[in-house]
Amino acid sequence: MNLKQLLIDRFGVDLNLAYAEAVPPLLAQILQRRTHRNYVGRPVPDELIDLLIAAAFSASAKSDFQQATVIKLKDASKRQAIAAHFPAMPWIGTSPAFLVFCGDARRLERLGTLRNHPQRNGDLEAFLNASVDAALAMQTFILAAENVGLGCCPISVIRNQMATVTRELALPDGVFPVAGLCVGYPAGAGHISMRLPPSVTVHTDRYDDTNLVSEIESYDRRRAARHATPREQQRNPKKFGYADFYGWSEDKTRQAAEPEGASFAAYIRGHGFSFDGA
Ligand SMILES: Cc1cc2nc3c(=O)[nH]c(=O)nc-3n(C[C@H](O)[C@H](O)[C@H](O)COP(=O)(O)O)c2cc1C
Repeated sequence: MNLKQLLIDRFGVDLNLAYAEAVPPLLAQILQRRTHRNYVGRPVPDELIDLLIAAAFSASAKSDFQQATVIKLKDASKRQAIAAHFPAMPWIGTSPAFLVFCGDARRLERLGTLRNHPQRNGDLEAFLNASVDAALAMQTFILAAENVGLGCCPISVIRNQMATVTRELALPDGVFPVAGLCVGYPAGAGHISMRLPPSVTVHTDRYDDTNLVSEIESYDRRRAARHATPREQQRNPKKFGYADFYGWSEDKTRQAAEPEGASFAAYIRGHGFSFDGA
């Protein structure tokens, strides 16, 4: 695969990288990673899921504390109880396999008691460490899954329905979903979502966002030239009106202006975590 083209597909610009070697297949695969939400009916064998989970748990883990837990959601009624909350995302209920990647701060607490070094593992550090472990495991699963022809879609909206998720998955205090994950054989090619250019996301020696505005304007135009948002898909026009030019930054700032996750924050504070210092 041609590196120049891979980078244009990902960033919409020629990064003019001087790298002259042939692109290793895994690197090419990662550059082409994409979310898949539509799947063919073909089941994903349990043994393959287990192998991919083994790959997932090969991810780095903060301090080797290993604070990720994966729940394989196989019970159809439990799955439907969760999926029913999200009719706009039917893939949550219909993907051939569904996993939930959890941050797990409980295990270390239990081990502390077992080894007679009891400690609370419920501060911001614990929450962040467990979240990062789960996220790294999930992304490793996704890349491994793509490597065997599967497609995935992370599902964080389940965090908006914690009463149902906690009941169905029997989550104890200290264990929380970072995201669900739909898994299946893709029904189509999907598309590569254009990323911000390194001029925005990569800084050298010091933080420097001096050129953010001009870089974002170019990115918005580049992205819209490849994949424009139809006028009827502009977000919340009642509140924000219709924009003549509707780019990524308009869409994402409209989305962020409608805060998500308040109920999850309350859930976390009530289930084993406190972020108020010592
Ligand atoms: C932590 C996380 C949570 C996500 N949650 C959802 C979700 O609830 N529903 C969904 O359809 N897609 C979800 N996605 C997929 C993103 O929308 C997708 O990654 C993004 O649009 C970029 O597209 P790409 O993955 O194809 O590059 C999530 C992705 C991540 C990383």
